[in-house]
Amino acid sequence: MDFSGKAPLDFARGRLFDYAAAALLASVLPWKTGGWGSLFATAVKLSSNKLRRAARAIFSCLSSSCYHPDVAARGKFITFEGLDGSGKSTQIEKLARALRSHGVPVAVTREPGGTLTGERIREVLLHSTTSGLSPLAEMALMFASRAQHIHEVILPALADGRVVLCDRFTDSTEAYQGAGRKLGTKPVLALHEILCGGLQPELTILLDNEVAFSVERARRRNRKHKNVRPDKDENRFEQESRTFFGRVRHAYLAIATREPQRVHVINARGTPQETHALIRELVRKKLKI
Ligand SMILES: Nc1ncnc2c1ncn2[C@@H]1O[C@H](COP(=O)(O)OP(=O)(O)O)[C@@H](O)[C@H]1O
Ligand SMILES: [Mg+2]
Repeated sequence: MDFSGKAPLDFARGRLFDYAAAALLASVLPWKTGGWGSLFATAVKLSSNKLRRAARAIFSCLSSSCYHPDVAARGKFITFEGLDGSGKSTQIEKLARALRSHGVPVAVTREPGGTLTGERIREVLLHSTTSGLSPLAEMALMFASRAQHIHEVILPALADGRVVLCDRFTDSTEAYQGAGRKLGTKPVLALHEILCGGLQPELTILLDNEVAFSVERARRRNRKHKNVRPDKDENRFEQESRTFFGRVRHAYLAIATREPQRVHVINARGTPQETHALIRELVRKKLKI
């Protein structure tokens, strides 16, 4: 798998591509299907999205490079990062609602998890009764979940033209396992290259707040959840020390300095609505959606 520089393609280019393909389809199909009547029947049977994709497939094959969902991806990949309790889930929900209200197709997903296999791995990784997991095993499980997630959810959604909002991605592994567990950045980036084909988000929103604030918010939320869903225990990382989370935050900010084009730090100290307004503005400016 090699996605670097190929996916996702720009929306505008894709649209132009669609119109050209639709025109081509319109001229070829009547001849292939025996007239306009049967073409109309075929068109009614297909949803407009399917028609669009079929048109693109034909056009791609005729224009030498054959259609492949990985290459033809046209959505946008946005990841949310930050400490537990920084407000990722809250903000993803708000952004998803805002984009959908403008008719933008959105897929919301998370890591570890996002697939049936991934959710099982998530339980092992986050359940507070999981003990003695080595840092390397922890990193490997994170990537196992991610590789499946990319294959089963992220790439198909991008190929379908969706905006994918993903709660955590490889930056989390670099921050938690690389810095928190002291495995270093190098093995994380090497595994990312091998197992994720170097897939990078167009935009990463890093919600930043002081460690104490985030940890306190997460603890409060977890206590609340425990009363509602005692079976749902995702508190293993909560047992870590303030110095561990200090290393995680520091690593996140270092990633943002290293990749300023992709990673944008958002001050997450305000109210949920204030933070949402900052994110909405950033997404509008950077991705034009
Ligand atoms: N800006 C905010 N101010 C105060 N509380 C917040 C804010 N954003 C989220 N919360 C609350 O803090 C807790 C953690 O937020 P959450 O979105 O679950 O964080 P994360 O997904 O990053 O772990 C939740 O109980 C949430 O309602
Ligand atoms: Mg969350």
